Amino acid sequence: MSNEDAGAFTDRLIDIRRRLHANPELSGEEYETTAAIREWLRQAGIRIADYPLRTGLVAEIGGQYGGPVVALRADIDALPVAEETGLPFASRRPGVMHACGHDFHTAALIGAAALLKRREPELAGTVRLLFQPAEEKAKGAAQVIESGALEGVRAVFGLHNKPDLPVGAIGIKPGPIMAAADGFAVEVDGKGTHAAMPEAGLDPLVTAAHIVTALQSIVSRNVSSLDSAVVSVTRLSAGASWNVISDKAILDGTIRTFDEGVRTEVRRRFEQVVDGVAAAFGTTARTRWTGGPPPVVNDARWARVAARAAEAAGLEVVAPKPSPAGEDFALYLKQAPGVFAFLGTSGPHEWHHPAFDVDESALPLAASYLAAVAGEALDELAAAGGAGEGEKQDDAAAGGVRV
Ligand code: NI
Repeated sequence: MSNEDAGAFTDRLIDIRRRLHANPELSGEEYETTAAIREWLRQAGIRIADYPLRTGLVAEIGGQYGGPVVALRADIDALPVAEETGLPFASRRPGVMHACGHDFHTAALIGAAALLKRREPELAGTVRLLFQPAEEKAKGAAQVIESGALEGVRAVFGLHNKPDLPVGAIGIKPGPIMAAADGFAVEVDGKGTHAAMPEAGLDPLVTAAHIVTALQSIVSRNVSSLDSAVVSVTRLSAGASWNVISDKAILDGTIRTFDEGVRTEVRRRFEQVVDGVAAAFGTTARTRWTGGPPPVVNDARWARVAARAAEAAGLEVVAPKPSPAGEDFALYLKQAPGVFAFLGTSGPHEWHHPAFDVDESALPLAASYLAAVAGEALDELAAAGGAGEGEKQDDAAAGGVRV
């Protein structure tokens, strides 16, 4: 690209990002956003693939001569946050804001699509573009998978902007990068009575207080110092009056873990502590899990490919600190191996802050990285005979060698 072209490309991506930013839509309600993406892709001559999604859409580039399929994902939804940036292109929808930078992700993927379209005849397979709805509610990835859009996908890549990394840096690492985000709701059943005669009842509030305290021992006594976990009780409610012992107490909160083994063990201990403490006070308790996504775990082989692509796109690869936030990109990684990267955007605030913003000069870098990693992944898969490790063995088997 000439300097002039590069300038026009950057301006175009900034324009797209600002239009999205001014018109944010909540999870599952991204109708105008979807229509806008469809129109931008149509203008770039990119074909829309036919997968049944109410909001969000899937498009494809390449594949004229067959070959493997890889996927690139951007999330497109906004948050119920009242914007306080004061930007000229601030949200025009009161109480709704792109406070997690999904406008940036969407613009970057449209940019990557344009770059890939230019080299479409040279692509060694198909790049499937997933414009995913409802990430903030951890619902959209499941909808995209349900639509069939991950079928045949051999590797999947996505990124999240990272305010605390500078523009020009990208965090890529194998292994866990974002946490499993489990929610819990515990209901403690006691027996209500007069506050002056507690012996006539079973106080669920005292049980709940002991449960909160006892839960603190899980991370300190059951999780190895080399692993990590968070158990946070964020809501505790019981009672309605100063002179009545209530019959019920409720505790809500979340558990964050980076490893499925740790996740299972923490949840098992959680239930044991809740049930045991409740029984000790003669009350009963029930734990209900509101399942968030599993941890985002990057594949080692594809992390190497992603790092190579990032360098080719002019980025500096750094080792990122994993984030204890959740991401439903994790569900794609259960379908196909891949990499979720953190792209530096020199932001003034963390994700979900009402004055959240990104440095837009990172947009062309994000687009170049996504295009590069898709191209590299297709080349790598095609070099392996259009087959992965498993299929290579099948080829050998067809040649008479049983493995
Ligand atoms: Ni986000």
